[in-house]
Amino acid sequence: MKISYTSNRFLLFIIFTACLCLYFAIQKKNPDENEDILIIPSKFEIPTSKYPTTSGLILDKLPNEDDVIELFQVWKKENGRVYKDLAEMSKKFATFVSNLKYIVESNAERDSPNSAHLGLTNYADLSSTEFEETYMTLNTDAMDIVNDDDVQDVTCSDPPLTLDWRSSGAVSPVNAQNGCGCCWAFAAVGAIEGIVAIKTGKLTPLSVQEVLDCEPSGSCSGGYLENGFSWVKGNKGIATQTSYRYTAKKGGCRSAKIKNSANSGIHSYEAAARSDRGLLCAVAKQPLAVMIYARSPKFQHYKGKIFKGEDCPLDPMNVTHSMLIVGYNSENNEDYWIVKNSHGTRWGIHGYMWIKRDYTKQYGVCAINRHGYFPVKN
Ligand SMILES: *[C@@H]1O[C@H](CO)[C@@H](O)[C@H](O)[C@H]1NC(C)=O
Repeated sequence: MKISYTSNRFLLFIIFTACLCLYFAIQKKNPDENEDILIIPSKFEIPTSKYPTTSGLILDKLPNEDDVIELFQVWKKENGRVYKDLAEMSKKFATFVSNLKYIVESNAERDSPNSAHLGLTNYADLSSTEFEETYMTLNTDAMDIVNDDDVQDVTCSDPPLTLDWRSSGAVSPVNAQNGCGCCWAFAAVGAIEGIVAIKTGKLTPLSVQEVLDCEPSGSCSGGYLENGFSWVKGNKGIATQTSYRYTAKKGGCRSAKIKNSANSGIHSYEAAARSDRGLLCAVAKQPLAVMIYARSPKFQHYKGKIFKGEDCPLDPMNVTHSMLIVGYNSENNEDYWIVKNSHGTRWGIHGYMWIKRDYTKQYGVCAINRHGYFPVKN
């Protein structure tokens, strides 16, 4: 049966209306929750463009109930969300509203204009448990090429005052993990792309999927950054992203059938010295893969400015996520790392995060100084 565009829209309108009724009916049973914003809306029209986009939106106060519905509509469309039934949609709407409250409250508590602000990222309909179970799955227990915890100091001559490997063409576009917990593969491949671009003068996006499929200990439920490097070293290179595409699922290893990108082999990999200076000296040479603790709603909803990880644990081995430092800069005298994430461009600053270089913390913000790794290419 062919359903016309108009009747499709009508159907959507009916479904959305029904969902809202269901949702507000559920809410009425719990009058204590979210009372301030959740009252039955007076109108059910699909709103027109008060919020043409939610991705750059900074939320400083709680929108009224009509606006919340409108935001959810615009957000859903922008992020291509389709829910399987009314129950799921009303559950997701409830999560969205609760996240929205958290975002606004957290923004109100910012202590300086430099402090991180939160917004509606592509994860706005995930509860913190869902977010953490899907994305914060890095393994560190069995794998640590340097396992003493001394802070190490190093020197290097004259690292530039500011640095951004993106402007030297050593960083590929931001990717999205899309429901697969393989940050370890994204960070490892990003670091390899960086050193290959620096050594050959040519930036080629490389295949995260190949590392995910072929590195036996890693999967969508976590993996080891170092094993990612190790696999690419053993394979004498890695396929291009376009020849071995990302599917967000671990599948059979096809490396025998797909040829390596020219000149993509690495000689070995090393750990950066475990201090702020150690990271600086390493990043001055190439993009650096790092691990941090990121099981936090402040990370999930991060939208801009400097992330300071105030509530991170002190244990430097307690890390959950891997990313790629691609440079450093400062704002109003506060120094930060420029960090590439693999959560898509709707997360953070077009997919990037600024992480404070906190000289007062032994291992840096969320232990970022503790686990820096880089591939070596001759
Ligand atoms: C990591 O830190 C968090 C937050 O402090 C804590 O809840 C969790 O139990 C710690 N995990 C490990 C493995 O130590």
